[in-house]
Amino acid sequence: MNKGQKTNDFNEIVFGRKSIKQYDPSITISRQEMTDMIAEATQAPSSVNMQPWRFVVIDSVEGKEALAPLARFNKDKVMSSSAVIAVFADMNNFDYAEEIFGKAVELGYMPEETKQYQLNAFKPLYDNMSKSAMRENIILDAGLVSMQLMLVARAHGYDTNPMGGYEKDQITHALGLDADRYVPIMLISIGKAASEGFQTYRLPVEKITTWK
Ligand SMILES: Cc1cc2nc3c(=O)[nH]c(=O)nc-3n(C[C@H](O)[C@H](O)[C@H](O)COP(=O)(O)O)c2cc1C
Repeated sequence: MNKGQKTNDFNEIVFGRKSIKQYDPSITISRQEMTDMIAEATQAPSSVNMQPWRFVVIDSVEGKEALAPLARFNKDKVMSSSAVIAVFADMNNFDYAEEIFGKAVELGYMPEETKQYQLNAFKPLYDNMSKSAMRENIILDAGLVSMQLMLVARAHGYDTNPMGGYEKDQITHALGLDADRYVPIMLISIGKAASEGFQTYRLPVEKITTWK
């Protein structure tokens, strides 16, 4: 198990995850452990491995107090959790292409020719991609990392709640980010549950699946 992980029991992690409405406010998560969890979550796959996810971790009282008025009906979660992770997606993600592929070469994960081949293939694609296509792309990737982060949190013994109920038109600016560049994805509260999550129903597989 990685440092800080409490369990690698897959069933416990996946089926034990419930959205948590109230947290024990006395629990703090160290920045080192939060860093470890983000690093683990970012093993998620992404389009062309561009990893367009960006995170703002709000773990101070002042930070949470500033966030709470933007969190609509989620204020209690914001204030009682150990931290809120604001997940964003970066429209300029391809700026990191050289670093991502360059490091892969340096680490011996791919030969230089493969890097050049991939960059030559993808650069024009990304340069000419419409804003809406880019948004769609990066929102998908950031959703994957968000899910992975919630499961990683479970492995570290924490609970979470994904939140879409907040002022998306204000959050980016409020956190000091460029709203034209960073797309808000969701807030994730994280901490130790003070009360159990609700049981929630899932549609049966035959209602949501077709076979060909
Ligand atoms: C994108 C997204 C946005 C959500 N927004 C909120 C929210 O604003 N407030 C809240 O209490 N729960 C929110 N939820 C949690 C869902 O209500 C919850 O995942 C769903 O009811 C299933 O319950 P479970 O997570 O306990 O399995 C959100 C979930 C997702 C995936």
